[in-house]
Amino acid sequence: MIKSFMMDKYYFIMTYGCQMNIHESEKLAGILEETGYLPAQSVADADIIVLNTCCIRETAEQKIIGHIGSLKKLKKNKPALKIILCGCMTQQNGKGLEIKEKFPFVDYILGTHNIGDLRSLLSGGAGGVFVEDTDGYINDDLPVTRTSMPNAWVNIIYGCNNFCTYCIVPYVRGRERSRTMDSVKAEVERLVKEGYKEITLLGQNVNSYGHDLNDGTTFAKLLNLLADIPGKFRLRFMTSHPKDFTDDVIDAIASHDKICKHIHLPVQSGATAILKAMNRKYSREDYLALVAKIKDRIPSVGITTDIMVGFNGESERDFEDTLDLVEKCRFSGAFCFIYSKRKGTAGYNMTNIVQYEVKKERIKRLLALQNKITREENKKYIGNVFEILVEDINDRFENTYCGRTDCGRLVNFKSDADIRNKFVKVRVTRGATATLWGEVTEVE
Ligand code: SAH
Ligand code: SF4
Ligand code: F3S
Repeated sequence: MIKSFMMDKYYFIMTYGCQMNIHESEKLAGILEETGYLPAQSVADADIIVLNTCCIRETAEQKIIGHIGSLKKLKKNKPALKIILCGCMTQQNGKGLEIKEKFPFVDYILGTHNIGDLRSLLSGGAGGVFVEDTDGYINDDLPVTRTSMPNAWVNIIYGCNNFCTYCIVPYVRGRERSRTMDSVKAEVERLVKEGYKEITLLGQNVNSYGHDLNDGTTFAKLLNLLADIPGKFRLRFMTSHPKDFTDDVIDAIASHDKICKHIHLPVQSGATAILKAMNRKYSREDYLALVAKIKDRIPSVGITTDIMVGFNGESERDFEDTLDLVEKCRFSGAFCFIYSKRKGTAGYNMTNIVQYEVKKERIKRLLALQNKITREENKKYIGNVFEILVEDINDRFENTYCGRTDCGRLVNFKSDADIRNKFVKVRVTRGATATLWGEVTEVE
């Protein structure tokens, strides 16, 4: 450990975007703590502020730009403050220099393949823009300061090869790079020994895990290997791409109690023509058949999804196909987005754009439908007892804790004792739109 001789110094990390970024922030925190920095309680107390950014939609970028602007005053009052920008936004073509010009008070701008450079910067390297244009390498030897007990995030594959025409991720995260099964297994074994009770495997497309290794490694083999690790823990994973969700993965989920019966399976659209324009490589019928097969093999499964409205060329008829697919699949939850065009993607140059007013009206209809389905599906849980891993306190209510069922539903329940990090049995008593409520019947 490199410990420098200095007064206590504090860091604050602001994380935007997906679970990948949440986990990457744990790696940034690991590097900062290794160098002697301590976590600050607020931005104002920090000597180093890191913004770990996202650029999946324009709204995400606008929010971050606003936050960078608001740091100017802080930097003026405290010139020794170091401001670091990293994550997906900085990796976009030319964006690093553009940000540095607009916000000269930002000290370091690091691309997604440059996280490791943080170490040299902390040991006194000069400020500037460090954005490497490479397909990326694997950073699985970085120290990690985990913040999500009882859950631990574990990367299994970095990058993406799919180039969906709306999506910026392949451009900012590089090509697919899988970790070896041995390396993932060793990390999971260590985490289980350290007391983590839920392991969430991360990848933009976990189903293509192993393909790049060319040694017969597959996601199903990895799941089987990890589920055989002794100890009481749960395995989750995200995200699954429908195009290569193979039968052996369904079999692995069905046959191991440790693998949660929750699949996040983004559909994006219910119209084959739009899926084709999006380069998703499956049709409406393929998706419906896959959902039917999964539900047949794993009756207790919870399937959630991502849906986008207003992609280029989406007609009213196409959108109605999406509503119809939502009715048919009865997702237990859906993240719904308005399509936002991203510079550098194939979608950016398409001319058949959908007007913003139309997009807004469509997302309203979609949300109303999914909320109705979520409420109806929630009713089916009432009266049943589920095993739940208690994840946190729900501080909006007195003596209330929350956690998820095996199939991914969030449940709130009361307890006088602190039951965090324990497995409990909960009888569901009522359902609100987003969450269920229940009473604890048994504590491990
Ligand atoms: N790798 C995952 C998704 C990562 S991005 C997958 O393939 O499913 C998370 C979600 O953001 C996507 O599923 C999509 O619904 C949404 N999204 C991606 N690009 C978008 C864009 N340009 N505008 C609006 N939503 C977008
Ligand atoms: Fe983006 Fe598609 Fe890759 Fe997911 S699979 S990260 S949506 S390009
Ligand atoms: Fe995630 Fe946003 Fe990057 S969704 S991969 S942090 S663009």
